[in-house]
Amino acid sequence: MASLHDRTAPFPAARPRRLRQAEWVRRLTRQSSLQTEDLIWSLIVHDGREDRQPVAAMPGVDRLSVDAAAAAAERAVALGIPAVAIFPNIAPIKKDRVGTEALNPDGLVPACVKAMKAAAPQLGVMVDVALDPFTDHGHDGILENGRILNDETVARLADQAVLLAEAGADILAPSDMMDGRVGAIRTALENARQPDALILSYAAKYASCFYGPYRDAIGTAVALQGDKKTYQMDFGNSDEALKECAMDVAEGADMLMVKPGLPYLDIIRRVKDAFGLPTFAFQVSGEYAMIKAASANGWLDENRAILETLTAFKRAGADGVVTYFAEQAALLLKS
Ligand code: PBG
Repeated sequence: MASLHDRTAPFPAARPRRLRQAEWVRRLTRQSSLQTEDLIWSLIVHDGREDRQPVAAMPGVDRLSVDAAAAAAERAVALGIPAVAIFPNIAPIKKDRVGTEALNPDGLVPACVKAMKAAAPQLGVMVDVALDPFTDHGHDGILENGRILNDETVARLADQAVLLAEAGADILAPSDMMDGRVGAIRTALENARQPDALILSYAAKYASCFYGPYRDAIGTAVALQGDKKTYQMDFGNSDEALKECAMDVAEGADMLMVKPGLPYLDIIRRVKDAFGLPTFAFQVSGEYAMIKAASANGWLDENRAILETLTAFKRAGADGVVTYFAEQAALLLKS
């Protein structure tokens, strides 16, 4: 097959710079562009008293009270952001070995979902399905003698997913990387008469240093014992991501996520090409922190870094991006 290069005229018949000579022609010929519709705004919530509580490792991100989360939901709608994602910081006193608080129907996450849907019924609300905010060891699963119990964890995740769907969550996003959880969640949702609940599977999730600031944000940094390498993927692997996605698609996932984002653009492209499903990237806390830290030092132009990185996800094949920059990006896109 002739390659693209064989079909290109030689210089000077071809002068690629012709297409770059002015802003109007660059706009006219741009292949990928970012829109507010592509954004899912990630928000940290807490059960403390303050309305907003700054996260040290993520300047500009606050932990929000239930009321502040409802206000953020209204803000998202006003800006045209289609969906938000909630991540909870749970008081240490409520954490235990098996993450019991994850199954509390009156817990922080269900309360936030209800408040946000009441304030902004037209907004999509996504929630993580995982145990790590609720366990005292900081792992996403049940830990026994230093090992994660896969199937026992999956049973709890299915209950957690049903509880969150019943609270009004639109998108259930299992981020735990246990085997078989998407199928179990889908079956549990059907049995609970929640046929419309969407599953956005964190299908290709890597064991990454870039989650560091998030663990500070949700308060598992001190708690986490060991690492998550027995369930999250090894960052040297690529084919394994397709296998994880294939299993989740077969088990009933509606949408797929690759995480972290920017260091894994190759995986986004492969997943999009292989499955053609709505595919999302997660620009995680460490990516946020890098841009913020460099910008604070005057080493990067923050706004340009935001738009360039978010557009890179689109170019790689993502349909949208979960990002802590969603509000700022939406404002930039307006201006
Ligand atoms: C865990 C979870 C993590 C993130 C979202 N859900 C961290 C982890 O797996 O340790 C990371 C989000 C971020 O870094 O912004 N279920």
